[in-house]
Order: sequence, then C-alpha cells, then structure tokens
Amino acid sequence: MNENVRAGFNYIFGLLYAVEQKAIPGDELFFPSIIGEMLNFYRRYWHLSLDSVYEEAMFLIKKPEERLIMAAYEAFGRNLPEVALRLTESAIVISSELTYSAEYISFLVKNRNMELTRQFIGDFGERFPGNRYLEEKLFSCDVAEKFWSYDYYDLLADIQVNYRPRVYVEIGVATGKSLALARSETRALGIDPVSAEKSMLPYHSPQNSPSLFKMTSDDFFAYRDVPAEMGRAHFDVAFIDGLHHFDQALRDFINLERFAGPNSVILIHDCLPIDPRVATRERSTAFWTGDVWKIIPCLRTVRPDLDIITLPLSPAGLALVRRMDPNSRVLARQYVNVVEQFNAMELPESWEERRTLLAVEKDQSRFSIADYVPKGGWI
Ligand SMILES: C[S@@+](CC[C@H](N)C(=O)[O-])C[C@H]1O[C@@H](n2cnc3c(N)ncnc32)[C@H](O)[C@@H]1O
Repeated sequence: MNENVRAGFNYIFGLLYAVEQKAIPGDELFFPSIIGEMLNFYRRYWHLSLDSVYEEAMFLIKKPEERLIMAAYEAFGRNLPEVALRLTESAIVISSELTYSAEYISFLVKNRNMELTRQFIGDFGERFPGNRYLEEKLFSCDVAEKFWSYDYYDLLADIQVNYRPRVYVEIGVATGKSLALARSETRALGIDPVSAEKSMLPYHSPQNSPSLFKMTSDDFFAYRDVPAEMGRAHFDVAFIDGLHHFDQALRDFINLERFAGPNSVILIHDCLPIDPRVATRERSTAFWTGDVWKIIPCLRTVRPDLDIITLPLSPAGLALVRRMDPNSRVLARQYVNVVEQFNAMELPESWEERRTLLAVEKDQSRFSIADYVPKGGWI
C-alpha cells in the first residue's frame, strides 16, 4: 500500500487508540464514519480497495453497533446502498445514542428516501423536543432535493484527473481530502493555519506530495514568494475553502487574482447556502457555510468583467470564476467600502431569488466542465 495513504490511516488508528485509553477526549470523533469515509474516498477517486485496512478497522472497533456502521460505509462504497441502510437500522436498534440516529438519517438521505427522513426527524423531534442537531439534518434533505446528483469532490476530481492543472493552490486544507485528489504532474500547495502539516492529515494523494503552509492565507500572500512556491508565475486552479467569512474570501480572491493567468480558474466553496440559518457570519448551526456567498453579488457588481457561475454541488455550492485580470486593483482599492456594503446584505429567503442573486447554473445536463477549462487541459 502507498506509504502516505498508510500513514493517514495510522494517524487515525493512533487517535482511536488514544481515545480508547482516555488519553484524549473523543467526543467529536466517530471512528466508523471517519474510517468508512476514507475507505470510500480511495475507492471512488483512486480505485483502491483497501481490504486489509477495513479488516484492521473491524478488529480495532469493538462495539457491535459501531461495527455495523463501518460495514454500512463499506456496503455503500460497494454500491449496495440498501444494505448500508439496513445495517444502520440495526445499529439504532442496538443503541439509542444520537450518533447512530444521525448515521441512519445520513444513509436514508443517501438512499434518497426523503419522506422517511423527514418523518424520522419529526418523530425524533417529538420525543426529544428542542434537539437542534437532528432537526438540522433536514438541511441535507433540502440539499439532496435541490442540488445536483454529484458533489464538489466529484468535480474537483474530474478537474484533477482529466485536465491536470500544472499548479493547484488550496486555501483551507482541513483533513486533506480535497488536496488528496491531486495527481502526480500537478504542483499542489495547501495553506491552513491549523492542519497544514503532513503528520496531521488523514487524507493523502497516493501520487502527490503537496507543499504545505501552516499559516493563514493572509500570511501566506504577505510573506511568501508566491511564484517561487508555485514554480511559475501563474496558478491554473485555485480553491478558496478557508475561513467562512465574506471579507476573508474576498481577500483570498484579491490575493489570488494577482497570480492568475489567462486560463486560470478560481473555485470558491460555500457560495450557495441551503438555508439562511447556515449562512450567517457567526456560526449557530452544526452545518455552516458562513457568509462567503456575499462574494458572488459583490464580484458581479464590482467586477462585471469576471465570468462567474455557481454550481449547485452538495453540500454548499461551488462557484467557478474565470477571466481574472492580474493587473486589476479595483477590488483592492474599494475593499473597505465593498465589505461594508455587502456585509449588510441578507440572503434571500426565496430559492428562486437566491439562484438569481448567486448566478446559479440550473441545468445539470447543460453544464460541462470542459467548457470552462482549456481544451485538452493544462498539462
Ligand atoms: C472547510 S475546511 C476545508 C475543507 C477542505 N478544503 C476539503 O474540501 O476537504 C476549512 C479549513 O480552513 C481553515 N482555515 C481557517 N481560517 C483560515 C485562513 N485564514 N487561511 C487558511 N485556512 C484557514 C480551517 O483550519 C479549516 O481546516
């Protein structure tokens, strides 16, 4: 097995052991879904079936209800969504803990059984009034109904596999999952003040060792020689997925644009919130997009020369921006006023108005990424 991929699983198994030994708190860590998601990531995007890791995880995870959830992820990854659902159903029979109900709901949504999902959440609300966590799961029903059938990782993978950016810059690395889609020919850079450190990342590309910068994006652009780090003057693809605040996303855009070439693309995550409650500047929900969405009306107003569309990709929309001008200083000059102006903006309640404001591409069948990237790719 690839040693970077193995190191990512070792990191997670180490955490599992530390939680078991009560050396660290484990409240936020639910290992069956963490490991299950990782296995499915490598299966889907790298065509790796890591059976020995699955066996090892089943050995390390002791509770029967947890093993059922692990098995559910595995069944789902092997294209058996109904089986996955039955396994999570068995887990909630064994344990009434919230975690298992949440997993059951996730698999109901993955099976696109919205009616049962809403009914289950409704019943749950009656039994445990005021439990906001599961009520928030209703957002995932709305996402499944309103968004396209594939998610933003699928689009990033398509870009990496089929168009091979020479330079890919990612702001906001978290677990390394999106960065782990980079292929061997790409020079990949990841910036994150918390997790941009090889030993802290569960996900790794089997082909690519990215340059990691453990610092804020502002510091990266202020103190690093960006063309030297990229190995050329321009990036091909950049992904803004750092701090979920409009003013920060705008600064990231301004900083990146200075290094854009004629064929560069900037992707911005979290530009289509499913509900106003997840779209506030201050976080009040478990699933949270912040007010990054304001960057779309802002850029469309202040920079009509840019080409912008927002794709309804699960879970929070992905904007695609082209035709940047590295010499433009319009946004930088007007930054303070523009932030003040758009900070005051409210997300429209109506879905139709929201789609218009955020330049949402409606028709999945009409969209092809090939229309937005250079013919034949970058390499
Ligand atoms: C949503 S996660 C990124 C997810 C990742 N891109 C993926 O799709 O797998 C956001 C990350 O942004 C990081 N972050 C927060 N503030 C940042 C900043 N000022 N500059 C760069 N990264 C930041 C956080 O530490 C967090 O890991």
